[in-house]
Amino acid sequence: MKSVYDELYGRSMRDPAGFWALAAEDIHWDRRWDRVFDDSRPPFYRWFVGARLNTCYNALDAHIDRGRGKQRALIYDSPVTGTVTTYTFDELRDRVARVAGMLQRQGVRTGDRVIIYMPMVPEAVMAMLACARIGAIHSVVFGGFAANELAKRIDDAKPRLIVSASCGIEVNRVIPYKPLLDGAIALSSHKPERCVILQRPQERAPLQKGRDVDWDDAMASAPPAECVPVAATDPLYILYTSGTTGIPKGVVRDNGGHAVALKWSMQNVYGVGTGEVYWAASDIGWVVGHSYIVYAPLLKGCTTILYEGKPVGTPDPGAFWRLISQHGVNALFTAPTAFRAIKKEDPHGVHMTKHDLSRFRTLFLAGERCDPDTLLWAREKLAVPVIDHWWQTETGWPIAANCVGLGMLPVKPGSPTKQVPGYDVRVLSEDNAEMAGGQIGSIAIRLPMPPGCLPTLWNNDAGYETSYLTKHPGFYLTGDAGYRDDDGYLYIMSRVDDIINVAGHRLSTGAMEEVLASHPDIAECAVVGVADDIKGEVPVGFVVTKAGVTRADAEIVRELVEKIRQQIGPVAAFKTALVVKRLPKTRSGKILRGTMKKIADGQEYGVPATIDDPAILGEIGDALSGAGYPKKG
Ligand code: COA
Ligand code: AMP
Repeated sequence: MKSVYDELYGRSMRDPAGFWALAAEDIHWDRRWDRVFDDSRPPFYRWFVGARLNTCYNALDAHIDRGRGKQRALIYDSPVTGTVTTYTFDELRDRVARVAGMLQRQGVRTGDRVIIYMPMVPEAVMAMLACARIGAIHSVVFGGFAANELAKRIDDAKPRLIVSASCGIEVNRVIPYKPLLDGAIALSSHKPERCVILQRPQERAPLQKGRDVDWDDAMASAPPAECVPVAATDPLYILYTSGTTGIPKGVVRDNGGHAVALKWSMQNVYGVGTGEVYWAASDIGWVVGHSYIVYAPLLKGCTTILYEGKPVGTPDPGAFWRLISQHGVNALFTAPTAFRAIKKEDPHGVHMTKHDLSRFRTLFLAGERCDPDTLLWAREKLAVPVIDHWWQTETGWPIAANCVGLGMLPVKPGSPTKQVPGYDVRVLSEDNAEMAGGQIGSIAIRLPMPPGCLPTLWNNDAGYETSYLTKHPGFYLTGDAGYRDDDGYLYIMSRVDDIINVAGHRLSTGAMEEVLASHPDIAECAVVGVADDIKGEVPVGFVVTKAGVTRADAEIVRELVEKIRQQIGPVAAFKTALVVKRLPKTRSGKILRGTMKKIADGQEYGVPATIDDPAILGEIGDALSGAGYPKKG
């Protein structure tokens, strides 16, 4: 007999339009679609063409209309400030409507971009939903990025207004945000007309007259704004993500397909129903935060949690269990790195036993490859299913998962299980042939992708095509490499490009190389992602200084580390650079980063036949061992 998963997956492939039209019945439309799926302009496919809706209405007002206004919508839990605040759907809708009115008063109109550069405070979520309410396009920038990265996003998105805060709080350090914002605006060519600054009690920021407005002052007289219906194909947000160079890619998300896919995923992928409590321990600056802190749980009518804290240190490795117990969390979604950090500090799971976890049903992990050890440890200690699932900023929701709502399949540690309904995932060779089972290849998704996935890059249709659609004609290139086993389970092993994953954060080694190369003493450089027992990977730089440079290596290294922190941000976790005499290259001049990574990780490596001078590999090994690589254990 076919499983529910097989049945639904088959239906999604045989009749995608019928499948998603049925899912779309769960959304409130101000106008229904003319066509579910529009393929008149390939490869720019569109879902729900002709339809109009408002995402904020579906996330908030629709639940109030159905009598759920008194249910908890958002719980802000902030151990770093000692605060827990709960907003019901009524309260959150009223706040969001006034923030939307405030944005309109400040000149924001439908279609305008608004950058949100904020820590994990409720006002950040309100600002996102407020943009959605008036049809403005938000672009949230993660707080751990430096001014230079924020400037790139300002120049690309050209926001009319920026919403920011005076500071963030990292465990017990106050991080002033305003100097970063001011620095970014000084660097960018585009200047926003207005900045609305939330003054937090931990740090007050000086405001620039004529440009900056205090959030509280702006809100004081703000009237509530009604929902503005927009086209299903209109952008809801732009989220910048790392590509292979220093220029981030502006992933566009539409309104209609996004609402349909995300709401569908809550019950079918996560097995979570209306009224339940869902917690994604991520940051709103990442796609996980957009999709599973803000939009999906609220669209489904769940209670969602905004956590301003870390898995460890705020105050201890029991923080997650305290929240689960205190708020009655049914499902938690986080990155494996969080569990590695908890496991390191509490290997026997003693903190778990101090809390009532009886309502907790499922743990979901994503954002980086989930090593089987971490999965098995979490499963043993928590005694709940632990589900690895795979997706990326571009898709906005899972590509492969063990769909809990469709009847769980057996878990195979190391695999995010099978392709989710709607996704036709193939493992391809260099010449686009399908690889045999067990053979590693480039993982691609046959076009069209389901609703919710990116329709294009912001103002850059050509970049969308060259980045994703050219390598394998007729397919979307995920940038991940892996294989499928004989049971149809996918294994996501590595990236095919220069992207690395540091503590679940996606970063470009190419971007780091650009920064290192701009140092006046550096002739050439390479950055590789090296295995780290907590963060999964951390970047390590190899630099060759210019002839005639006589300064001490340690001094140059200090400057390089600081330069990456200043230009990319602390989130890059760039702490190690090694000065070497030469970089290993092929005879055609290509730097052998893969071989360097293997040496650093202590893996077997073959000497590439095309290498220019094999002796350099020994020099790299020596430099690494001087810095303590490969790390033991
Ligand atoms: N604003 C300012 N700085 C920030 C920041 C923010 N929003 N987020 C992180 N940083 C800084 C940190 O303070 C740290 O700076 P430091 O070098 O001065 O110590 C640096 O960026 C790296 O931060 P982080 O990656 O959080 O590392 P950490 O060592 O502080 O903590 C973990 C390690 C594993 C606990 C942490 O990475 C974590 O909780 N990960 C969860 C995974 C996650 O949320 N992934 C998102 C996708 S699901
Ligand atoms: P991001 O766009 O920041 O969400 O990063 C997406 C990338 O993270 C993917 O392309 C993968 O390289 C990696 N990734 C995410 N989830 C998983 C997973 N479950 N297993 C392996 N890699 C993953």
